[in-house]
This record gives sequence, C-alpha cells and structure tokens, in this order.
Amino acid sequence: MSEETGSQSVRAVRGSAIRDLLAVTERPGVISLAGGLPAADLLPTERVARAASAALRSPSALQYGLTTGAPALRDVVHARESAALGRDAGAVVVTHGSQQALSLLAQALLNPGDVVIVEDPGYIGALQAFDTTRARVIGLPMDADGMRVDELRPILERERVRVVHTVSNFHNPGGATLPEDRRRELARLADEFGFWIIEDDPYGELRFAGTTVPPVAACSDRVLRLSSASKIVAPSLRVGWMHGDASVLALVERLKQGADLCGSSLTQAIAAELLADAAWLDAHIDGIRALYAERALALHAALVDAFGDRLRLTTPEGGMFLWGEFTDGTTTSQSLSAAVDAGVAYVPGSAFAVRRDLDHALRLCFTTGTPDDLREAVRRLSTVL
Ligand SMILES: Cc1ncc(COP(=O)(O)O)c(C=O)c1O
Repeated sequence: MSEETGSQSVRAVRGSAIRDLLAVTERPGVISLAGGLPAADLLPTERVARAASAALRSPSALQYGLTTGAPALRDVVHARESAALGRDAGAVVVTHGSQQALSLLAQALLNPGDVVIVEDPGYIGALQAFDTTRARVIGLPMDADGMRVDELRPILERERVRVVHTVSNFHNPGGATLPEDRRRELARLADEFGFWIIEDDPYGELRFAGTTVPPVAACSDRVLRLSSASKIVAPSLRVGWMHGDASVLALVERLKQGADLCGSSLTQAIAAELLADAAWLDAHIDGIRALYAERALALHAALVDAFGDRLRLTTPEGGMFLWGEFTDGTTTSQSLSAAVDAGVAYVPGSAFAVRRDLDHALRLCFTTGTPDDLREAVRRLSTVL
C-alpha cells in the first residue's frame, strides 16, 4: 500500500525504528540489548496458569465486560494507586496496556496543531500516539535528573501548551528519575498555566536502589496517571490503567467504546487475582528487582571498564534501561550494522530523538541477559564503538 493511501493522521505518525530494528537484531548468536522486554525467566507462567484456570470456572471470564474494566480489577488498582498517592485515587479506567491509555488520551485532549511537550529523548509509543492527532510535539531536553523542568516556563509563556508527557521513573529510554523538586515545579506550572500532565509510569515499582519519590499525581489534580501490569506481571495480559480528572476519564471511556467496546474479561480477571494476592505479588516484584539489580550493575560495571570517561552513563536505580552518551564524538547509528555483525545489538540514540542530535547516544536494555552475557556483549561493543 502506498503512503498516499493512508489518512492524514496515519501519515503524520513516525515509524518505530526500534520495532524495525528488532527484526534485524534477533538473529541467532546476537546478544540483543536493543529490545525492551521483561526477563522471560521471571514471567510467572505457573501462577498465571492457576489464576487463568480459576477465572475460567466462571462464564463471565469469556463474556463482554464493562468499558471501564472489571470492577474487581479496578478496586485493587484503586487501592494500590491510593496507597502510592497518599490520598484517594478516584475512579480508575482499565486500558489495553498503558499504550492504549496514551492513544485515547491523545485523542481526547488534542486537536491538530495543539502543543504537546515530551522529553527529548522520548518514549516512541507516546510520540506515535501524539502524532496521530497531528499535534505539534516539542521536545524538552533531559539531563541525569530527567526532564529539564526549568526550561519549561519560557515555552509556556510563548505557546499555549495543552499536554506535558513525562515518564517520571526510570525513563524509557533515558534511564533517569525526576526528583521531587522537579515534580513539584512541574505540578505547580500545570496549575498556573492549565495544561494536563500525563504521568506515564510503567517502571516505578522496579526500583532496586535509592528511595521512592512520590508520584507527580500526588502534587496536582491536573495529572492523568498511567501504569500497567506489563512490567510487574506480564505484558501479554495487556492490562494497563489510568486515573485522574473525572471529566477526562469520561471522554476516554467514550472513545474506548469506539476503539474496542471493552478489554479482555479473561486477562482482567487474571490480573485482578494476581494484583490482589499481595503476598505473592510483593515476593514476585522483589524477585524482579533483585535480578534486574544484578544485571544492571553487571552491565554498568562492564561499560565503565570498557569505555571509562568516553561514555557518560545513567546510574541504574531501577527500570530496564541504561542510557549512555559518548563524550568523544563516537556516533552510534552508523556502527549498528557492524555491531550486529560482531554479535551485539543496541538502539542508537537517534531513534528516540525529538529535536536533539542524539547520534552520540545509545539505549541498552539490561533485563534479558545474564551477567556473563552482558559482559560478553560489552566486549563485543568495545570492538566496534
Ligand atoms: C514509558 C512507557 N509507557 C508505556 C509503555 C506501554 O506499556 P504497556 O502498553 O505494555 O503497558 C511502555 C512500554 O514499554 C513504556 O516504556
């Protein structure tokens, strides 16, 4: 199908360089640090099978459900989110992964030409969701502490900004976590200028070092907060959720009726049982944190050994990714095919660029390799970069 066949909306959507890349990098013998998948060895197949079998004793698991999600799942998500916020989280809408929440929020809030601020480098799935609405996407640079909130005010004074999107914890791809003072300032600006904040937080529970920072949603009512079971249980459930302003949630519900009528009653029943089984879930998430800590530290140490001061790295405190920036002019996109030939893959920084030149940067995922795999991957990387 030619490009002209598509609507103006689809023509406005950038492709995902990562999804294209994965086809090349999943070759046998290649250690891929390019993907963004949870560790397969920790996907809880047995526990999910038990929950599925229990759910399937009731026909309701195979029936259409409410557009806003199964009440049992909404209840348990509400309790968990209220605990994280330190106040009542209000109504919850369950979505088909948090990606669907991004897509529905983009449709609910944005008209063509409206201004959306994202982090630069940005999460590609959010950029794609915003592109669909033909909004004007402006990138705000990140540093080791996440979004440069101090650079926001001049833009707000110049432009009528409608939405600011932030991945507040363990950014994908940037690795950084927004500290509390920046969260408070962002929330203050939302109250002053009247824009919506989308706090996109699928990684917050994967903290293995440092201390938890309260969600941005704890600081303002103008936050739509998104999270997901993908990284703490399993992505194939396609269970995500959002909460925040009731009038925005009503718009999302209306759009969701047109998108899919309702999510899967079966996977929502499974997710409800697993999220409500606090003893199991806490132990499971502790296991993920311990494994990711070991892998992140192995990758970080190997990179420091191999590249020293040439590569500025994020300090891994959680999540799934390390972000590195070469300080000596080394570029990453042109070397990717040589790296794949040498048996290692990564995502070049340019794949995540909104405006900035990120050709000296790269994203490395530490979740799927053992420490030995990761050390070998870095040895291979050092032969090409
Ligand atoms: C920042 C961010 N938001 C949202 C998503 C979507 O996740 P899901 O739809 O599986 O909940 C991802 C997936 O990797 C992500 O990195």
